[in-house]
Amino acid sequence: MDYGKHYSVMKSDVIQLLRDNFPIDGNFNFSDLTFGAGGHTCEIAHLYNNAHVYSFDQDPEAIENGKSRLVKEGLEKRVHLIHSNFTFFEESLPSGLLLDAVLLDAGVSSHQFDKAERGFSFRFDAPLDMRMNPSVGASAADLLNGMTASELEGIFREYGEEKFSKQISQAIVDFRKTKRIETTKELENICFHAYPKKLRHGKIHPATKTFQALRIKVNDEIKVLEDVIGQVIPRLALNGIFMVISFHSLEDRVFKRGFKDWKEEAYPIEILTKKPLLPTEKEIFENSRSRSAKLRVIRRVKDWPSKNKYPRKE
Ligand SMILES: C[S@@+](CC[C@H](N)C(=O)[O-])C[C@H]1O[C@@H](n2cnc3c(N)ncnc32)[C@H](O)[C@@H]1O
Repeated sequence: MDYGKHYSVMKSDVIQLLRDNFPIDGNFNFSDLTFGAGGHTCEIAHLYNNAHVYSFDQDPEAIENGKSRLVKEGLEKRVHLIHSNFTFFEESLPSGLLLDAVLLDAGVSSHQFDKAERGFSFRFDAPLDMRMNPSVGASAADLLNGMTASELEGIFREYGEEKFSKQISQAIVDFRKTKRIETTKELENICFHAYPKKLRHGKIHPATKTFQALRIKVNDEIKVLEDVIGQVIPRLALNGIFMVISFHSLEDRVFKRGFKDWKEEAYPIEILTKKPLLPTEKEIFENSRSRSAKLRVIRRVKDWPSKNKYPRKE
């Protein structure tokens, strides 16, 4: 798989935020929760050449690719790749380490979408897998074949905001009477025929929202975002910043509410983006995937109120 042509979303905004807040010749501890193709990590590690970087990815392919990229770019001594879900953030970092900046660029990478065998996309006919880490948890096919119509309907409605959740989940259950659903194309077809005839050829394909919902469920994407906020904030150094890039309203809502909630709990954080930063028209033109991106940032502004080094919200 070619990781070479990856376009990192809102990279220049992220770099500008860092430059505005941290001198490039100082000591700098950074963590990238979503290494992906390494676009953000490597740019930041080159810019801050004293930086120590801790980059997570749960996808074994991203880690394998990352190892050789880091060696090629001479960064392997300062960038520590951690093959783990970032839900294990706190326990994966050296104890006592405080971070000047943390970045989370949510969701799946274009490589995951574009590699047929990963089963994320109905552009290809492939087994329905959708796990970012294929050796952990149930595949999309296992979930689809194991859930009741009302469970499926709830997932499609909650994570896909799909208007025809009921029709699609009923069609899935009907299909299963003859055989298990195994492939992306089978699910695409089911969604297509579950839609009212006159809406089947609209701007958005009838399977789009169902695929999104299923992917979010398979990887528990909303829950891990909720969990990680409470692990990152206590690890921020004084004046440390946490930057998050989201791609749909469900993700953005987690950050918007989560940050507000932590601030109200008297945690010494400041929300730097009352409104999220958005990509420029130029970026959207160059990379259409960035069109729905939103960047929110918080900063730790004071010492923790307690003697405990890493106070955790109960
Ligand atoms: C949008 S891509 C990141 C792209 C990256 N910023 C770049 O510039 O190349 C998201 C990456 O995060 C990883 N990822 C998503 N959720 C994760 C999680 N909960 N734990 C660890 N990695 C995750 C995915 O496997 C994917 O490789």
